[in-house]
Amino acid sequence: MRQLSEKQFEMWVSAPRVAGKAKAGQFVILRTTEFGERIPLTIVQTDPEEGLVEIIFQVIGKSTAELATFKEGDSLHDFVGPLGMPANVKKYGTVLLVGGGVGIAALYPIIKELKKAGNRVLTILGAKTKELVILEEECRKYSDELIIMTDDGSLGEKGLVTNAMEKVFAREKIDMAWAIGPSIMMKFATMTAEKSGVPVYVSLNPIMIDGTGMCGGCRVTVGDAIKFACVDGPEFLGSEVNWDEFLLRSKQYGHEEAESFEAYQK
Ligand code: FES
Repeated sequence: MRQLSEKQFEMWVSAPRVAGKAKAGQFVILRTTEFGERIPLTIVQTDPEEGLVEIIFQVIGKSTAELATFKEGDSLHDFVGPLGMPANVKKYGTVLLVGGGVGIAALYPIIKELKKAGNRVLTILGAKTKELVILEEECRKYSDELIIMTDDGSLGEKGLVTNAMEKVFAREKIDMAWAIGPSIMMKFATMTAEKSGVPVYVSLNPIMIDGTGMCGGCRVTVGDAIKFACVDGPEFLGSEVNWDEFLLRSKQYGHEEAESFEAYQK
């Protein structure tokens, strides 16, 4: 386990069968204990030979705080995956990859695969402060150009990722874009890309329970259809997502989550 910032942690998990099959864009669902909450996390990278899977998480509540207490040699109760559809990686030409906060962990494997597929890769990473810009060097390695935006200007330029997106769109033709980060960022990144007529994929992170399309917890409206992010996604075209509904549903257990985190911290 490696601490990346005050609240962000990186962990390598021994899970040979997941490591052998995982593709960029897929995720796992883990539980720390039998009665623990199910935590969906993107697979950052794998080492199939060693049977290892890398995950990155941010402490946002009780379950992730518990996960952060894990030490080398400890066992998770379960670790299910790879789940979801892989990202739509192919040769597009010039691609723009936009990541915000801990969403950079989900963006990184896609950057890597798009580069390997022969694309010219432009990357924009954004976070509140310098400390929260994760995987900078890893992303730089597979990017032809890397732009960093922070809210306070402590690293890169001061401003939002959408400001940097506008500049890139004004300067050159982008064939395909990705935006992964907080829901509100993905909504605005979609609007910014739409204005320039660039299609953009987002990776949705709704509440998930079983991760197999059975419970309906991760239901999202995409186009005119009801989709389950765990089996049909998590990647969808941003322009087709019903963002208002998605943002509302994401907040529905906010009160219970805050209460449980408070009780855990006491
Ligand atoms: Fe249950 Fe997707 S998590 S249907």
